[in-house]
Amino acid sequence: MCGPLAVPRLPPDDPRCATGVVLDQPPETVRVSFSEPVRLAGRGIRVVSPLGKPVQRGKTAIEGDQIGVEVDAAEPGTYVVEWQVLSSDTHPARGRFAFSVGQPSAPPLAGAADVGQVTPLGLALQALSRWLHFAGYALAFGTLAVSLLGGSAGSRRQWTLTNSGIILLLVAEPLALLAQTASLGLDQMFDGDALSDALASPFGRLLAFRVAAALLLWVVGGSLQAAHEPHVAVVRPDLRLAAGTAIGLGIVLALIDGVGQHAGSFQPLALGLLVHGLHLMAMAVWLGGVAVALTTNGQLAGRITAFALLAIAVSGVAMAVMHIPQVSTVATTAYGQALAIKQVPVLLAAMLGLLALKRRKPGLWMGELGALVVVIGLSGLLVSLVPPR
Ligand code: HEM
Repeated sequence: MCGPLAVPRLPPDDPRCATGVVLDQPPETVRVSFSEPVRLAGRGIRVVSPLGKPVQRGKTAIEGDQIGVEVDAAEPGTYVVEWQVLSSDTHPARGRFAFSVGQPSAPPLAGAADVGQVTPLGLALQALSRWLHFAGYALAFGTLAVSLLGGSAGSRRQWTLTNSGIILLLVAEPLALLAQTASLGLDQMFDGDALSDALASPFGRLLAFRVAAALLLWVVGGSLQAAHEPHVAVVRPDLRLAAGTAIGLGIVLALIDGVGQHAGSFQPLALGLLVHGLHLMAMAVWLGGVAVALTTNGQLAGRITAFALLAIAVSGVAMAVMHIPQVSTVATTAYGQALAIKQVPVLLAAMLGLLALKRRKPGLWMGELGALVVVIGLSGLLVSLVPPR
């Protein structure tokens, strides 16, 4: 067969590929092979007969990079096979192809050669949930890190920002789960099997960890806030431990978050996760730093954000090299185009940031923050698309 991000083993024009093939004898089993190990998502394979009836028997079985199901395909004519899986980096993928028994007939479903596409709603929900996750991560952990590094942790305004981040994280994660199932089909969005497969996958476990991290930050942050007085958080040893725990949690979250992104299928994995984690942490410090700057009239943000800017540029270029092996694909793939468009608000944010450091005007911090919010929105879309590597 021919397949998706988990990409087809055989190109569609290969004569051994089942797409459009006419078989003399009815097959007993339909198998789909992928270019990497996959996980089942919901119903797996569905085979529709020339009369429009599902003819698969039993449940789809999975073995490494192959999924398969037994079929009753005695009726002559064209069958459509629909498949759906989670690829090794946990992105959902689905597609369909046709084969005929005896002689071709009108395909029972339209669009018989669709490969690897997720639904538009699923893509939109993936991008939205990632945007909320990045904003939540930056506000929850970034503002806390910047305030601690700058020695001003514990102010009421800082906690308002940190707590808003915790709320965004808690909203983003259930939405991310629905985005996974909606990506496979609108009828799958609330399907028990599809939801259960998504929860049991590495992506589901990552979601659980993200929720747990947000809840733990809530608990730890509560003890820090209960101290009331500004600066007390960095003075009392027990509170210093709580603050260290919160920051450590943010670092661990950034490092393992890449498991559910494209870094999760990059080799060597450790390098992928490290570069990805650095990018995410630098993003949180830059965005969190600007948010804190707005509440402290520009104090703190200077050196910290300059450092984050450098780290984000280095890690960003490294990720671009990792995921885009050929420069020409920047123009020819949706992933490359999204990355190129993202550079416009990145440059705007950097320019406004440098101006704001010199002039210290709230309007400039606001402009920089707005540009960064657009950057993380575009990044949410970028990581939901298929990279060209
Ligand atoms: C030199 C400029 C930059 C480059 C070349 C760059 C490049 C990239 C690339 C290639 C990815 C995709 C990784 C993947 O497919 O998994 C990415 C993801 C991301 N970028 Fe950037 N980036 C840049 C600047 C920024 C800035 C300024 C921000 C925000 C402050 C930012 C925030 C993000 C976020 C939130 C992600 C998603 C990380 C994730 O998957 O968890 N980037 N970036």
